[in-house]
Amino acid sequence: MADRQILEEKSYKTVYREGNQIVKEFTASHPKSDVFNEAYIHACVEDAGVPVSKLLGVNPAGGGWAIALEYVEGKTLQELMDEHPENVDEYLEKLVDIQLETGSYRVRNLRNTRVKMEEAIKSLTEIDASTRYELLQRIHGMPQHSKLCHGDLVPSNIVIREDGSYRILDWAHASAGNAGADAAITYMRFSLEAPQLAEKYLRLFCKKADMAIQYVQKWLPVVAAAQLTKHREAERELLEKWISVAEYQ
Ligand SMILES: Nc1ncnc2c1ncn2[C@@H]1O[C@H](COP(=O)(O)OP(=O)(O)OP(=O)(O)O)[C@@H](O)[C@H]1O
Ligand SMILES: [Mg+2]
Repeated sequence: MADRQILEEKSYKTVYREGNQIVKEFTASHPKSDVFNEAYIHACVEDAGVPVSKLLGVNPAGGGWAIALEYVEGKTLQELMDEHPENVDEYLEKLVDIQLETGSYRVRNLRNTRVKMEEAIKSLTEIDASTRYELLQRIHGMPQHSKLCHGDLVPSNIVIREDGSYRILDWAHASAGNAGADAAITYMRFSLEAPQLAEKYLRLFCKKADMAIQYVQKWLPVVAAAQLTKHREAERELLEKWISVAEYQ
């Protein structure tokens, strides 16, 4: 049997490589429906021809369930950024190009981004009813689109292969909707984890997408509220600041 190489450990899951496979093993207490839902979304996206790693199966493991995927040989954009910080502009451009290409796919059977955001906001007990109302109004004011949105398109979720082609990982949060919302999520993730790149990313995305920066910014209170459902203490302050903007506009 091939050696097991652990790539990522979280409280509810372990991601490891075993030979030509990547296994995402969830703890026994993790909802079975979440695991199968992630695999289902991945399958929908794969069937639509989006460049992803092949889904190999969902198998029982350690009392819970594990998703098996094909291992993609290469380096993530995050690894490349860490190894060659001097080339960061080139990597950001690659990220934006990939995001725009992703948005050109139409994938059937995915939930709509607006509906997903709406449900997340309705479930939030941390923010008061008036703010939730403002956020829901904001969502309703946004146009209806059905572009493929990854929902967490960050450099660590893209593997670049030797030949320059790429594969996108981590489809658990994907939906069909507005490219501006997807860009707002990526901008938020940069602001939380690599703030020095956030503005540069946003300007580049809007330029390449020919989209007004204000349109992406309109989504910020919404995506920040949706992110609050993950209850990450270190993120709370920034997210609450962004959400509060919705109360005054
Ligand atoms: N199919 C794959 N081929 C190559 N490397 C992979 C593959 N899947 C995952 N990896 C590597 O493992 C890392 C973590 O995997 P993944 O992004 O799927 O989990 P995660 O980031 O913990 O998930 P989430 O962001 O949903 O919490 C990736 O950043 C990548 O380096
Ligand atoms: Mg990831």
